[in-house]
Amino acid sequence: MLTLKNVSFDVKDDGGEKGIIRDLSLSIDDHKFVVITGPNGGGKSTLAKLIAGIIKPTAGQIFFDDKDITDMSITDRANMGISFAFQQPVRFKGVQVLDLIRLAAKKHLSAADACQYLSEVGLCAKDYINREVNASLSGGELKRIEIATVLARGTKLSVFDEPEAGIDLWSFQNLIQVFERMRENTNGSIIIISHQERILNIADEIVMIADGRSSSRGRRRRSFRSSLEPHPRWTRAACFTRGRDRWIRFR
Ligand SMILES: Nc1ncnc2c1ncn2[C@@H]1O[C@H](COP(=O)(O)OP(=O)(O)O)[C@@H](O)[C@H]1O
Ligand SMILES: [Mg+2]
Repeated sequence: MLTLKNVSFDVKDDGGEKGIIRDLSLSIDDHKFVVITGPNGGGKSTLAKLIAGIIKPTAGQIFFDDKDITDMSITDRANMGISFAFQQPVRFKGVQVLDLIRLAAKKHLSAADACQYLSEVGLCAKDYINREVNASLSGGELKRIEIATVLARGTKLSVFDEPEAGIDLWSFQNLIQVFERMRENTNGSIIIISHQERILNIADEIVMIADGRSSSRGRRRRSFRSSLEPHPRWTRAACFTRGRDRWIRFR
């Protein structure tokens, strides 16, 4: 369903070229829940943006349902059924949460139906539905509203860039359930960029991206255990912060 063929993304760097994504080939079948993981700066967000069409590859091709989408705009890809949730979501000053969800759903949802999507992501709907999507929302609130809009879109391919980033420990429990439900109910495929063990645990496939390349690919966490768990001894509900990545594990 989604195929990347020898995709590269180079940027100009001090007079030379720097390869952010290097000759990466990847294929994601229908109805798969794929988690992309790997170190900071490895190229994960760049890869997600290439899939969504926010940036275009400097080499290679991207196919979606056998159609070459390499040169297609974000809007055309969105209309074909690709949704994207940013690592750092965009704020829409002057737009209410209700309007944003209606825009995403592309139909006139009743307020009650729109509230359902907010409840799904653990937000008390009545407190948020009429709020503006502006700087008054915390990063975690904004992330969850963005996830709700992707749920409302219900497209064939949903790409989430670190949905757990900025989400507190309590809401994180709820978020896992959101993705578990999505995994069960969706007719399409889900790609999640994540470092979270519990999200990795529900993956059909895990793709490791490092240094712009897909270094390994496997099923579930087992084969990745050593690379994902830098701290062998976890305490109950311990939370380690490593750069901007948070490693959390419950026992
Ligand atoms: N447009 C750009 N210009 C220069 N460097 C970039 C650009 N986009 C990404 N990078 C660099 O490419 C690397 C990969 O970035 P990113 O895809 O955000 O990594 P990840 O999401 O895996 O942390 C980083 O070192 C980042 O600074
Ligand atoms: Mg990133």
